[in-house]
Order: sequence, then structure tokens, then C-alpha cells
Amino acid sequence: MPTQPMPTRPTRPIQIVHTRAELREHTARLLGEKAGAGSDGGPSLGLVPTMGALHEGHRALADAAVARDDVVVASVFVNPLQFGDQTDLDRYPRTLEADAALLEEAGVDLVFAPDADEMYPGGQPEVRVTAGPLAGKWEGASRPGHFDGVCTVVSKLFHLALPGGFDGRRAPYRAYFGQKDAQQVAVVRRMVRDLDFPVEVVAVPTVRAEDGLALSSRNRFLSDEEREAALVLSRALRLLSGRAAAREPLLPDDAEALVRSQPLVELDYLDVVDPETLEPLAFPCRETPFAGEALAIVAAKVGPVRLIDNMPLAAQ
Ligand code: PAF
Repeated sequence: MPTQPMPTRPTRPIQIVHTRAELREHTARLLGEKAGAGSDGGPSLGLVPTMGALHEGHRALADAAVARDDVVVASVFVNPLQFGDQTDLDRYPRTLEADAALLEEAGVDLVFAPDADEMYPGGQPEVRVTAGPLAGKWEGASRPGHFDGVCTVVSKLFHLALPGGFDGRRAPYRAYFGQKDAQQVAVVRRMVRDLDFPVEVVAVPTVRAEDGLALSSRNRFLSDEEREAALVLSRALRLLSGRAAAREPLLPDDAEALVRSQPLVELDYLDVVDPETLEPLAFPCRETPFAGEALAIVAAKVGPVRLIDNMPLAAQ
């Protein structure tokens, strides 16, 4: 496992609130306590949206927020809108006590942990954010409506975590997301741009176990044998990043063959894309030596678990 990062500021007991009113009240108080902080219009606010079942990857988000922002709020909410499959939603791990302990250790100030009735009073919302074409490919193709659900809840969280609303606020407001969910980062960035949210989206690099497996809340559902098999995904990505760094042709078919050689892994997609638009690279990866920057992405089913991973490619 990766080594535990040191907390970057002294920790104090974390507060957990469950309602939107409490969230506003406590965030306002915390920002008030730091009124003198920040040279840029007052104390900065960092938001770390999560669905709980936190691991070291989430810890990295919390650490990044605590290192940069004066007040940090994390949310823990298993958002029903982004699950296509009720079984997947039901079995999603709920571990609030352990989550709060991890966030407290990181120095997060406040946890917002609403239930579905609090987040969506009166049932699921009729009006939702439509995530658009960027959300229709890759993960979106196998999980229709997923990114609409993500954008709807994230836009609500952006509003709810900021007492008094966006109007007149000049101090920075940042939201932290894991680069492991590269498409989520791209879609949320696009939403922020298209809908003028005054929020800076910060992507935090993927945290990996020592053997290379990207940390994910879903890894706990892998048997030992499946976990071993899943390592082929990061190996395939590393093959591509090594070739990119050496300015060689990427030959993505080799990476695909490597994944397919593992019988417990059922490949969904593996491709090399533009990091912002997620469109496949325009130049032929077979013959042309690699130049510039790109993103290698992969998704596969390993036993009962769908895993995704990605790696930035950069010519050295
Ligand atoms: O990445 C996640 O855990 C979720 O998609 C998010 C951003 C918290 C929205 O529910």
C-alpha cells in the first residue's frame, strides 16, 4: 500500500452534518472564523465530493484541498441518480464512520453526509443536468445517464456548499476530483465552463497500490486471483506511457493484446485519446513516433467488477 501522507495542518475533531441547512450554517461559520485569511478576497473554500468508502485515493483529494484551501468541506453521498443498476447501488459500501476518521486525519473541517431524501426532497429531481456528447462515449456508452446523474449532483453540491451563493464571492472556490475518473473530470470541467460555475476544478493524480493497481472503492469486490489478473490493466497503460516517453510509435494493439491475454479480464475498451475532448488521437499510433501529450484509457470487467484506469502520455 502507498505510504500514509503527513497531515499538512493540525487536525481538530471533524464535524458531520446531514442536512443542507446545517451544511450552509457550518460552512458560513467556518469561513467566518477564517475571515482574515486569503489575500484574494477572503478565505478560500475547497470541496471534495465523494460517495464514501474512502481509500488513499480520496485521501489524496483531501490532502490536496487541505494544503491549498482555508476551509475544506467533503461530501459523502451515494448518489442514486448515477447508478443504472439497483444492485450496484444497493451493494455500494457505506462506511461513514471510517470515512469521517480518514477525513479528520487529513484535516478536513466538515463532512456533509445527507440521505437521498435530504438531497432530493420529494423524490428524484425532474430537472437534471444533461452532460452532452462528451458523456456519451467510453464510460457513458456502457452506463447511459451516468454522467447526467454525476453532473446533477455535483452542480447541487457546488451550490449547497457555498453559503450565500456565488454572487459577490471573490475568494477561490475549488472542487477536487480524482484523475482516475478521467472522463468525469472532463465532463465536470465542461459543465463548469458551459454553465459558468465560478469553481476551479482540480484533478488529483491517481493513487496506485505498489503493484500498480489504481485504488478504487470497487477493488474490495475482487478475489485474490481477480486482483492479480487486474494488474494487466496498469501494465498495458505503462507499456503505452513508456513508448510515449521514448517518442516511439505507440502500437496500441500490443497493449490490447496484453489485456486480452489475461483470461479473467474482459476488455471493454482501450484507446489513446485527447485528454480534454476524449476523442481518439488523430494521428496513426501505429507508424508515427509519439509527440505531444495524450491520455491512454482502459475499461474492463474483472470477474464481477468493472474497472477503469488511465495514464497520461507525454513525450520526454
Ligand atoms: O466520483 C465520485 O465519487 C462521484 O461520481 C461524485 C463526484 C462524488 C458524484 O457523486
